[in-house]
Amino acid sequence: MKKIHRLGAALAVATAALTLSAPAAAQFAKTEDAIKYRQAAFALMGNHMGRLAAMAKGEKPFDAAAARSSAQLVATLAGLPWEAFPAGSGTGAAKVKGDPWANAADFKSLQEKAGAEIGKLAQSVDSLEGLRKQLGATGASCKACHDKYRGN
Ligand code: HEC
Repeated sequence: MKKIHRLGAALAVATAALTLSAPAAAQFAKTEDAIKYRQAAFALMGNHMGRLAAMAKGEKPFDAAAARSSAQLVATLAGLPWEAFPAGSGTGAAKVKGDPWANAADFKSLQEKAGAEIGKLAQSVDSLEGLRKQLGATGASCKACHDKYRGN
């Protein structure tokens, strides 16, 4: 029952994230505000993925409650960056390559694939073995997009 409940919660989070990301560009007065916003969301995602990675690698003791909290945060945060990619915001502090705007369908599909893996992550962290397996798949889904669209 607990598992089913958590699956429901994860779906609710995923649905909320989709709804939240729908209103798109108009939220940001300035391009640099959008860039800051998405980089902040990504930085927090990276922080919590790092915490999970430390447990997966045995650098930190496995703690299921902390792992669940980080995985749920990543799931929530992962809904945030996408509305903060208004057209023409590959400027200034942006570290973008490969033109995600000209390749919008591909960029979106990579978001959805990562979203699916991130959703599974929140379901997989009850055991160290589950965490290790799904963290790998999730990290690969982040990397798939970064290889094409994250600059440096
Ligand atoms: C669909 C594409 C996509 C996916 C999926 C994605 N990212 Fe990114 N990420 C980007 C892009 C593009 C940038 C560069 C944004 C910028 O600088 O404007 C970025 C930047 C970052 C940064 C640097 C933020 C900063 O401070 O400049 C981190 C950290 C990061 N991503 C972590 C992650 C993690 C962790 C995941 C998976 C859980 C992930 N990303 C999934 C596209 C993606």
